[in-house]
Amino acid sequence: MQLSSLLQRFNEPETLKMAKLGRELRAKGVDVIDLSLGEPDFDTPAHVKEAAVKAIADNWSHYTPVAGFLDLREAACAKLKRDNNLDYKPEQIITSTGAKQSLANAILAVVDDGEEVVIPTPYWVTYSELVKIARGKVVEVKTSLESGFKITPAQLEAAITPKTKLFLFSSPCNPSGAVYSKAELEALAAVFAKHPNIYIISDEIYEYINFVSEHESIAQFPELKDRIILINGLSKGFAMTGWRLGYTASNVEVAKAMEKIQGQMTSATCSITQKAAVAALTGDLKPSKEMTEEFTRRRARVLELVKDIPGFKLFQPEGAFYIFPDISYYFGKSDGTTTITNSADFSMYLLNTAHVSSVMGDAFGEPKCVRFSFANSLPNIEKAWARIKEALAKLK
Ligand SMILES: Cc1ncc(COP(=O)(O)O)c(C=O)c1O
Repeated sequence: MQLSSLLQRFNEPETLKMAKLGRELRAKGVDVIDLSLGEPDFDTPAHVKEAAVKAIADNWSHYTPVAGFLDLREAACAKLKRDNNLDYKPEQIITSTGAKQSLANAILAVVDDGEEVVIPTPYWVTYSELVKIARGKVVEVKTSLESGFKITPAQLEAAITPKTKLFLFSSPCNPSGAVYSKAELEALAAVFAKHPNIYIISDEIYEYINFVSEHESIAQFPELKDRIILINGLSKGFAMTGWRLGYTASNVEVAKAMEKIQGQMTSATCSITQKAAVAALTGDLKPSKEMTEEFTRRRARVLELVKDIPGFKLFQPEGAFYIFPDISYYFGKSDGTTTITNSADFSMYLLNTAHVSSVMGDAFGEPKCVRFSFANSLPNIEKAWARIKEALAKLK
């Protein structure tokens, strides 16, 4: 019996693979410190949990509209106005089981066989795989540490062909931590203005975790807004990864297309989550701000700790909760048993020797780098980096 050819077209997420390997080692009694996963290590804010408890007591236990309850879509509109000064109507909002499903809905709604999707590297693991599932063609545009891991207008212009259907990026970026300024987005918008048939997916899931500036959305440019599919969700900013709530804001035609797709896939996300999400989107942002303050402290500490590690070339992250150093200095080095030839070897070496999990850069389209999360406690961060330093010192 053969499984479908679809399975041959895409890979499973390296982030989840690394987390699984870490768990397996932990099950054997090894004290593994997890710097591989991308989720806040905080509790969901109390007012959001209370709204969920109330939703259960009030019996919100039935199927919901596919796009989500109207009050939730209104809450998303209110949030987009409050935080981003963007005007959307509830019929332009589709809520889902997470930004990941929103991305899948959006890509499947606009990309056809063989159409090109321009993605600046490094990018979040799932982008390229979803494009492959949709039978689109991934066009990677290499950004570099020197350019702050941002695509330039000239690079964008050069990547666009008559087959380009979609541009897909995140700011703040997972894994690099790059944050596009208003001027940088405006310069990209000027390129898109010359190419009116390209959709733009703007993944803004790390919006609140920004260390350098106010968040800027590319949807603020009126000449582009109608072609932008803005993606956001509660996972990162509200420490709600397990609750599964994402949403898109787009034109109504795209929204209806995504609703049709989602209607056959998952129907909608959980009714209780939806009611809790209203409280998150319209409530006090103090808990989210406090989380970002803690990430700011950890970021400062990690940047200090990695100064002691020879050979790391590092971009100081402007947002999200990762560092993404170029570790190619270690390629060709060996501890006498293991030789490091690529970022996967480097990650595996650290897992087996330092018992610290990370994610190889290949997974993000950047094979010289490795991603280390700082969504872990300061004591664990201290311990992990001491172990990493010791393990790397053995490589000659
Ligand atoms: C850039 C980016 N987009 C989307 C997601 C998916 O988030 P969600 O938990 O809402 O599906 C993640 C999660 O790691 C992410 O890093």
